[in-house]
Amino acid sequence: MMKHLLSMTDLSHEEIIELLDMAADLKEKRLRGKVTDLLKNKSIGMIFEKSSTRTRVSFEVAMSDLGGHALYLNTRDMQLGRGETVADTAAVLSRYLYCLVARVYSHDTVKELAEHASIPVINALSDLEHPCQILADLLTIREYKNRLKGLKYAWIGDGNNVCNSAILGCTLVGMEIMVACPHGYEPDEDIVEQARKMGGKVTVTHDPAEAAKDADILYTDVWISMGDEDEREKRLRDLAPYQINAELVNLAMQDVIVMHCLPAHRGEEISADVMDGPHSVVFDQAENRLHAQKSLLLRVLC
Ligand code: CP
Ligand code: NVA
Repeated sequence: MMKHLLSMTDLSHEEIIELLDMAADLKEKRLRGKVTDLLKNKSIGMIFEKSSTRTRVSFEVAMSDLGGHALYLNTRDMQLGRGETVADTAAVLSRYLYCLVARVYSHDTVKELAEHASIPVINALSDLEHPCQILADLLTIREYKNRLKGLKYAWIGDGNNVCNSAILGCTLVGMEIMVACPHGYEPDEDIVEQARKMGGKVTVTHDPAEAAKDADILYTDVWISMGDEDEREKRLRDLAPYQINAELVNLAMQDVIVMHCLPAHRGEEISADVMDGPHSVVFDQAENRLHAQKSLLLRVLC
């Protein structure tokens, strides 16, 4: 079976825990300066339709740390950007590479790549999901809380792609998730239903205080995702009551951790004092992208 990662649901509970354990081990090894070249002579391609700092750099460094090579492929420079089909691109790249990482606008594009590639495809963010982010986040949560099961995760803000993967990720590891968002910004209905069918404790509310109350984790993301730029003014208005700030932090557990996948906009989805305050673990999250993706690459390539 081809090991694609298009959605969090491509992983089982056991597989997530195995990936986190391996990521923790790789992190510790890197800190001790121990190198491993398990991916020697292997190249992956990274197709980007959208901007990226963390995803691009962490995948590139992950491959180089593991002895392999990552090619950055911006669609503006590819024949894909001039009308070559996704199917043909997937077929051709499969002849050179061992894995494709793709950041795309439409989730259908990663699905189409996976359908036509004979190598694993990893979703590096689509309009529907961002599973690589959630793997790193689960690693971060486990580092701070020493467990996952039974924790309360509060998502505050736009019910977007990262939120969708968080709903599935929390469900898969036995965490409760409460999403607080304005009307019209709810997470994907099918994903919420899918999570509930899997036994997930998922609540969608319009009250940020209800979600933040006794939360172990407070999480937010940008209000204007890539592709939403035309709605900027409306989004800033609608989402204004959903900022993570000291008031919300005070409603959460005393040892709450505040998370953000980054990039952040201080003064919009998160206040500067909270973003840079003692509860914030955002840079650990960013670092953990590297370790979690190394573990993922070893899983799909070895
Ligand atoms: N969090 C995240 O995916 O960041 P980038 O957009 O910088 O890759
Ligand atoms: N929701 C954001 C995440 C960026 C990492 C976006 O899609 O732009």
